[in-house]
Amino acid sequence: KAERIERVRSLITSIEGFPKPGITFRDIFPVMRDPAVFADCMALLTEHVRDLKQPIDAVVGLDARGFIFGIVLAQQLGVSFVPIRKAGKLPGETIQVSYTLEYGSATFEVQKDALQAAQKVIIIDDLLATGGTMAAACKLIKQLECDIVECVVVIELTDLKGRDKLTDKIFSLTTYS
Ligand code: PRP
Ligand code: HPA
Repeated sequence: KAERIERVRSLITSIEGFPKPGITFRDIFPVMRDPAVFADCMALLTEHVRDLKQPIDAVVGLDARGFIFGIVLAQQLGVSFVPIRKAGKLPGETIQVSYTLEYGSATFEVQKDALQAAQKVIIIDDLLATGGTMAAACKLIKQLECDIVECVVVIELTDLKGRDKLTDKIFSLTTYS
């Protein structure tokens, strides 16, 4: 397993000074250029969630890169996929929350009818930096009265201490400091 995770990690690239000076950007997309490694990355995430041995009703993916991982995870688990989108893109009744992240701020939105109270969900994103994004997602999911089984990310930037902002369980496949 450690070798499989290392193979995923080896394809994540680091770009100094993007998108702003002083930021080292970890780029997940090169992982997707290798179909075998991306497939194994998804298999690792799916195995992890299955190993929790808890019922899951839905996977909630965060706009935009969380959609990629979320849709595949939901399909592999055989459960619903629910998107949390940046504001202004979802029709119907929604709830919103504003938040700050590593280099900016945004508003998240979810459709009220996407989840029912007491459903068990996994929240997934590509990366945890300051934790602002994941904390905002948790807030929305709790407003819908759902239970967060776990928050899952592919990359955790440990120096930014995003984990400290979260009260729910968090799993990261790889870490960077
Ligand atoms: C990035 C990343 C996470 C978030 C992490 O998304 O995909 O969602 O930032 O940062 P935080 O832990 O400091 O909140 P971004 O909002 O840049 O959007 P994108 O996925 O649409 O590119
Ligand atoms: N990589 C990708 N997305 C990000 C990063 C990063 O290093 N920091 C905040 N969002």
